[in-house]
Amino acid sequence: MSERAEIAVLVSGSGSNLQAIIDASERGEIPCKVGLVLSNRAGCFGLERAARHRIPTAVVDHKAYQTREEFDARLVEILAESGVQLICLAGFMRVLTPLFIRAFPHRIINIHPALLPAFPGTHGPRQALQYGARFAGCTVHFIDEGIDTGPVIVQAVVPVHGDDTEETLAARILVEEHRVYPMAIRLFLEGRLSIEGRRVRVAAAK
Ligand code: GRF
Repeated sequence: MSERAEIAVLVSGSGSNLQAIIDASERGEIPCKVGLVLSNRAGCFGLERAARHRIPTAVVDHKAYQTREEFDARLVEILAESGVQLICLAGFMRVLTPLFIRAFPHRIINIHPALLPAFPGTHGPRQALQYGARFAGCTVHFIDEGIDTGPVIVQAVVPVHGDDTEETLAARILVEEHRVYPMAIRLFLEGRLSIEGRRVRVAAAK
């Protein structure tokens, strides 16, 4: 893929993963620039981060749509028009319908704060603590039509400490998220990922 590939990042909140992606892009560590930041929540800090870097933004308020499909159709329209090569979900708190997912086959990735398939859904760090897991972590995966079920690209592991709270564990995981999300984007844009059933093969660097 070209050196100037553009990606979209979808956010609903703080956007610290978005920031890690922007920083990696500006340092030349990933072969792309963030061409669009899209949010369902006007005023979220992720949008502010984008503005600080002069990145185009769009807001589509899900509450303005009767159905998930209508909301998704608007997102598809904006993303298709933008011409981005990859769509990165980074704390985007909406469940996407097949309409959205089928519009961009194998071009949507997500980061999840747990070692999938353990602890899908919300509150990954809380679930890991409640379960008594000794290790937790994060997963970057392709999106499929399930909730956090798509093929795994990269994972990173952190220990769970005896005195951890949900907040301290989430913070330890977030450090790894900021490291592996740009890594997964780079592998994708270098054309090194191929999906075989559930497995993602990673080709050696050329
Ligand atoms: C991260 O923990 C990510 O794994 C999850 O939502 C959180 C987003 O954080 N999907 P941020 O908005 O990137 O700071």
